[in-house]
Amino acid sequence: MSQDAFRLISPDGTESELPVHKGTTGPDVIDISRLYREQGVFTYDPGFMATGSCSSDITYIDGEEGVLMYRGYPVEQLAKHSSFIEVSYLLLHGDLPTAEQLEEFDQTIRRHTMLNEGMLKFFNGFRYDAHPMAILSAVVGSMSAYYHDSLDSSNPEERDIFAHRILAKLPTVAAAAYKLNIGQPFMYPQNDLNYTENLLHMLFAVPAEPYEMDEIAAEALDLLFILHADHEQNCSTSTVRMAGSSGANPYSAIAAGISALWGPAHGGANEAVLEMLQEIGHPKHIGKFVDKAKDRDDPFRLMGFGHRVYKNFDPRATIIREMAHKVLARLGRQDTPLFDLALELEQVALKDEYFIEKNLYPNVDFYSGIIYRALNIPTSMFTVMFALGRSVGWTAHWREMIADPTGRISRPRQLYTGPTQRDYVAVADR
Ligand code: CMC
Repeated sequence: MSQDAFRLISPDGTESELPVHKGTTGPDVIDISRLYREQGVFTYDPGFMATGSCSSDITYIDGEEGVLMYRGYPVEQLAKHSSFIEVSYLLLHGDLPTAEQLEEFDQTIRRHTMLNEGMLKFFNGFRYDAHPMAILSAVVGSMSAYYHDSLDSSNPEERDIFAHRILAKLPTVAAAAYKLNIGQPFMYPQNDLNYTENLLHMLFAVPAEPYEMDEIAAEALDLLFILHADHEQNCSTSTVRMAGSSGANPYSAIAAGISALWGPAHGGANEAVLEMLQEIGHPKHIGKFVDKAKDRDDPFRLMGFGHRVYKNFDPRATIIREMAHKVLARLGRQDTPLFDLALELEQVALKDEYFIEKNLYPNVDFYSGIIYRALNIPTSMFTVMFALGRSVGWTAHWREMIADPTGRISRPRQLYTGPTQRDYVAVADR
């Protein structure tokens, strides 16, 4: 038997040779696509604990070693030397841009920031206190009703237009959602500003007076967006791929991804971390909350701790932790009690047997909220910030999925545990 096959023998002796595929790095995968035909069984892996859903060239994670690479470049190097716009080009196109390519890409994104004016009317239809994630997913889903020249996913040019639109317009939608929440007028984008400056301007400027750009905030947001830009087949990205696999237009696929991101086990964790820290309130209560997290009968979990893939440390958390120190120090807020509380909670959990045994470490979301808060971004906008960074990852994966000539609709199977056949009983006889 070839080394590149996995032999499976069923209890009745039927033998299958399942091909083993090798990636450029990382564990091999066993190809089970013929299994049902040959053995009459499905595999069972709820939550995808050991199942690869696709092959991909975009992002690599080694959870044991704490490695994260976009297109082969370690995230630490990109965080230090690159910008979110350059990283976006890298994720979308596969290689770092030349100076001219970067300039052209940057200008293209700057020129696509405005929303069709008709879409602005949507915002008046939402309740003033609507969660900005609800607005984001609804407005992005409705973009397919406005941008008909980028819906044909079989056309590479339309795919490019879609990619530029989604990247450029998401900050505008996000800022409009925030302005609705606080009852301020919507601020139009200013295309002489870079990506993060423009976002800050749309969030915090008002028409009545000039806005002074906060360069520290722009730098910190750029870093956070780089760190959130992609994370291989996470829940929201898999959702985008799955929705897109049916041939649904790309705006609907991204709207589906935004909805998946909202959950507290995924992107919603950054909001949940802040709420948890506020609930803990004082270092003297940490022990009580750590005990609650360890109690099997209590559903409470320490938000911002644990990760499906990272089992030693989350490399993004290490970088963000450093940035949190820098932001708080540079903004003159070294004494932010919530940050001190977070640092203490981290220390208690890292020394606790339960967390050590289960490999539970602070993840990317443990510190990002502290930075957002220091930048005066309200808690309800934290997951929206995550979505802005991840929008390029979703788009890169959607493009990869749609351009794959062997691609099929995603359609998992199941283990049926419901009633077997039974006959209908008329309502009067039940
Ligand atoms: N606090 C307390 N116990 C935990 C925690 C936690 N934060 N996370 C996992 N555990 C326990 C869990 O109870 C389970 O224990 P047992 O084996 O006794 O049943 C064990 O650790 C394994 O947990 P799991 O839920 O089976 O692991 P998973 O890989 O399915 O879940 C996770 C990963 C991130 C959803 C989970 O760790 C979690 O809920 N963390 C809190 C939410 C959070 O911070 N999410 C952000 C993830 S990073 C950003 C992103 O990718 O979106």
